Amino acid sequence: MQSPETTPPLSLTDVERQAWTLLVDGSRNPKDAFYTGTLGTLSPEGPSLRTVVLREADPRQRATVCYSDVRAAKVAELLANPAVSWQFWDDGRKVQLRLTGRATVHTGDTLADGHWQATSPSNRRSYLAGPAPGTAQPFPTSGLPDGLDTREPTEAESAAGRPHFAVIVTQVERLEWLWLARGGHRRAAFRYAGTQLAEATWLVP
Ligand SMILES: Cc1cc2nc3c(=O)[nH]c(=O)nc-3n(C[C@H](O)[C@H](O)[C@H](O)COP(=O)(O)O)c2cc1C
Repeated sequence: MQSPETTPPLSLTDVERQAWTLLVDGSRNPKDAFYTGTLGTLSPEGPSLRTVVLREADPRQRATVCYSDVRAAKVAELLANPAVSWQFWDDGRKVQLRLTGRATVHTGDTLADGHWQATSPSNRRSYLAGPAPGTAQPFPTSGLPDGLDTREPTEAESAAGRPHFAVIVTQVERLEWLWLARGGHRRAAFRYAGTQLAEATWLVP
């Protein structure tokens, strides 16, 4: 994709399409700035932010996907309050995206099974810690079973991670795009009703 710096988006339709294209491309390329985003949930103490990998972006469903250990704090937070925010910044393209929506947590269903099947044994290591993520320890540790710090789990070993694997799907309700440019910043917002675009507007940056 060309830099927006040289091709300023002229229409709200172009902006919205470009925003989702950036998300799709980011989810497929570990070197892309949008491969990771900041996911915000509401914890009992207030807003809680963390970096996650954007595993999937679906422009038709207006949905994004990330994975977590089901025992992580974010999952409990989402079950208590499904409201989420995502934030992405691409310094090269000078584009920030902010998404808000509702998240659903999938663990034992066919959707979670499908994503689990698609993960590599190496990635499954993230779900193999004995103690739950965030558990206090008297010494520095990955929490992984002996030996798995330094080698990939076998297919059979990795299966122990399946009960801990959670897929978090965000149904995006609002997408906000901000483009920084020397000739004047641009900002636009899009609201969705389900999977349908319900509102689109330019905003003063
Ligand atoms: C580059 C990067 C990518 C990460 N990707 C994920 C991820 O995809 N899923 C996840 O649960 N945590 C991921 N983490 C760890 C989270 O940022 C966070 O530390 C962890 O999930 C615990 O957060 P929680 O206690 O709020 O649930 C990532 C961290 C970094 C630095």
